[in-house]
Amino acid sequence: MIPNPTADRRTALALGLAGLATGATPALAATAATTAITPASPSPRRRERLADGWRFALGHAADMARDFDFGLWQRTYAKPGQAVSPATMADFNDSAWASVRVPHDWAVDLPYAPPKAAVAKDQEDMAAAHGFRAIGRDFPQNSVGWYRRKLPIGASDKGRAIWLEFDGVFRNCKVFVNGYEAGGSASGYAPFRVDIADFLNYDGTPNQLALRVDATLGEGWFYEGAGIYRHVDLVSAAPLHVPQWGTWVRSTVDAGGAQVAIETTLANAAEAAGSVQLRHRVIAPDGTTATTIAPSEAIALAPGGQALAKASLALPAPRLWSPQTPHLYTLETAVLVDGQEVDRVETRFGIRTLAFDGTRGFAVNGQPVKLLGVCNHQDHAGVGTAIPDALHAWRVAQTQGMGANAWRSAHNPPAQALLDICDASGMMMIAETRLNTTNPEALDELERMILSSRNHPAIILWSVGNEEGHQGTERGRRLSAQLVARCKQLDPTRLTTQAMDQGWDGGAADAVDVVGFNYRTDKIPAWRQRHPGKPVIGTETGSTVATRGAYANDAAAHVVRAYDTEHPWWASTAEEWWKIVAAEPGIAGGFIWTGFDYRGEPTPYPQFPSVSSYFGAMDLCGLPKDNYYYYRAWWRRDQPLVHLLPHWTWTGREGQPIEVWAHGNAEEVELLLNGRSLGRKAMPENGHLAWQVPYAPGTLEARGYARGKLVARDRRVTAGAPAALRLVTERTRLAADGDDLAAVRVDVVDAHGTLVPMADTPLTFAVTGAARLIGLGNGNPTSTEPDKGTTRRAFNGLAQALVQGTGTVGGARLTVSAAGLKPASLDLLFHA
Ligand code: GAL
Repeated sequence: MIPNPTADRRTALALGLAGLATGATPALAATAATTAITPASPSPRRRERLADGWRFALGHAADMARDFDFGLWQRTYAKPGQAVSPATMADFNDSAWASVRVPHDWAVDLPYAPPKAAVAKDQEDMAAAHGFRAIGRDFPQNSVGWYRRKLPIGASDKGRAIWLEFDGVFRNCKVFVNGYEAGGSASGYAPFRVDIADFLNYDGTPNQLALRVDATLGEGWFYEGAGIYRHVDLVSAAPLHVPQWGTWVRSTVDAGGAQVAIETTLANAAEAAGSVQLRHRVIAPDGTTATTIAPSEAIALAPGGQALAKASLALPAPRLWSPQTPHLYTLETAVLVDGQEVDRVETRFGIRTLAFDGTRGFAVNGQPVKLLGVCNHQDHAGVGTAIPDALHAWRVAQTQGMGANAWRSAHNPPAQALLDICDASGMMMIAETRLNTTNPEALDELERMILSSRNHPAIILWSVGNEEGHQGTERGRRLSAQLVARCKQLDPTRLTTQAMDQGWDGGAADAVDVVGFNYRTDKIPAWRQRHPGKPVIGTETGSTVATRGAYANDAAAHVVRAYDTEHPWWASTAEEWWKIVAAEPGIAGGFIWTGFDYRGEPTPYPQFPSVSSYFGAMDLCGLPKDNYYYYRAWWRRDQPLVHLLPHWTWTGREGQPIEVWAHGNAEEVELLLNGRSLGRKAMPENGHLAWQVPYAPGTLEARGYARGKLVARDRRVTAGAPAALRLVTERTRLAADGDDLAAVRVDVVDAHGTLVPMADTPLTFAVTGAARLIGLGNGNPTSTEPDKGTTRRAFNGLAQALVQGTGTVGGARLTVSAAGLKPASLDLLFHA
């Protein structure tokens, strides 16, 4: 009964590629010109982001009465249109439901529920994997969520193609329109489309959208959230139109410039045959028209049919996309009927070449580039998986601040919003499909990942698996070979990889183009000898575990020191893996596990109250741990850096030796305590420096020298008692688009403004004006304080508040206070 939205696409694509029987146009010549952009008329297509106006309530996975009678009479499967639940109908009273904004993750609001004593080990592991939130089979009352919203449909929409685009709903969701089941997705990660035109009222009667989302089962071993945690768009297009993911832009580059190949899928949603022409315009990165392609020949479309049209154009002097120069072009595709524009879509693309080579490593546009990567899950303090676009952007900026140029979306396709940000900021991306198998669901998810994302220049590799049990076997090879073949059909421009933790001498390693090593980086050099010329990357490297701002292990308190020394048995320190990869140009790079801490999989302490991982170079709030500066030092050698650890507030330990480290890329580092030199040392290549310094309060300073000149310094000053709060953020002028936000760091400082490094002060947050507080965090992996609300403790001196605009132009103020301390305020301005 659930229509498979991609099935016709697949058929159409196969048809189109096989011979373009239905109306393909021959490649068309481009009229090259650089003219000023003409102001675009509004697109005849309507795209509306459904962010506000949602109502939400928990249903029940085991009790029909508490699940809005879902399942009563099994109506969906018997009599379509006879509501499967009253909650899918417009006249249902949802006034008691919560008002929520999408993206939304209801799991982040749930209480923690550590297993009671004496549960099976597997059950305990499962609870730990999801961060001990009360969700899953044992919590049917928390595991089903219902969403409702009215759809903005008018009389003018009648006869048009109307669909909903969901970028990610976790998970097993059914989408209802006016009581009809219209579509859905089992996958919590792959994007999907639901056609809804048939179910709508066009006469002014309200149109009710409802979703039942069932997160009882998970798909991963990490916190996965629950609900509509990525964007939802409503699209209303002319009956003759470009369907979702219907444009594909590829390019090749040589000395003569770029050859751009354009494929356009066209669809006819009408009951009558139609005929269209296509017109293309390419807009250069500076906004001028680079090229136009005159309207094509007529393309015939059968009722309900599709066609594939091809065109090509040349750009003699393209501005190439690279991590340093993320130039983006826009393809404007217009569908014409009788010369009139009836539909128009814009597709951003980048022009660049990528090459993986087993000897020379990786290159962009022919220039060698080491992949300085991070693996990440989509998860952040305060909001869980429901990350607003502005927070994605902030996380990318924090990651680039560490010197990273690449991101692996583990272990699922990245959000389109994240991909847009990566395109625009030069962050390269490995997109990974969730299922390494070839059943219809897995193939469909892979296809949805590639069709939704292949225009993004940021994507450099498709990953078809991660640490699969069958990875080293012949069956594992077979499965991956099928997935790789599908990747190549859908996108012959990119290579494939698979993350493996063993079995690299056969199995799936033989099926993919670029072999991925998870950890065991020290095995790569010998493997390269056995497989000369085969490209290789570290798909997971490191990973040091650390508690931000902590400098002594404390097993009872689940605290891990933040020197680069602690790692699980399968992993390594930052220094160990990076020295190997840095030394071998043939290893294309590595992706640390992880950039950010994430909820669930609490390692190295899998027991409550550890609720998040300790792997990140940054904590769950994106606040840097000390290892962030190790990477920053060696990944951005053009920027001199010295970073000193630990803090210098060791009251009661006077005279005792303290282990002091300096990360940095200066040639030499001199350490001084209260102005007295403790000597200068040469910084080892890709290493760090260490001293034992008897503690005396005051100032510990590191000075970095290059060719005898002072190039960088860092200081740690002994702090007094907490006296005041300080608020720090990058931007106080923000867009009043309802999404933009400030990630505000709260510092607990002493009377002189020095950070109090162990302060765990309870803080109270208040926001007034055109903003709302959407989440709080402090980076403590053992904190079980709520993510929402108005109070949170500082952790090792710091906390974070996420302050998002309401969408109204105007000012807002965040005030943070704590008993006995001077409060702090921050003014934000949300502009049109
Ligand atoms: C890998 C896995 C990751 C994460 C990591 C922890 O095996 O791919 O998802 O579990 O180990 O070290």
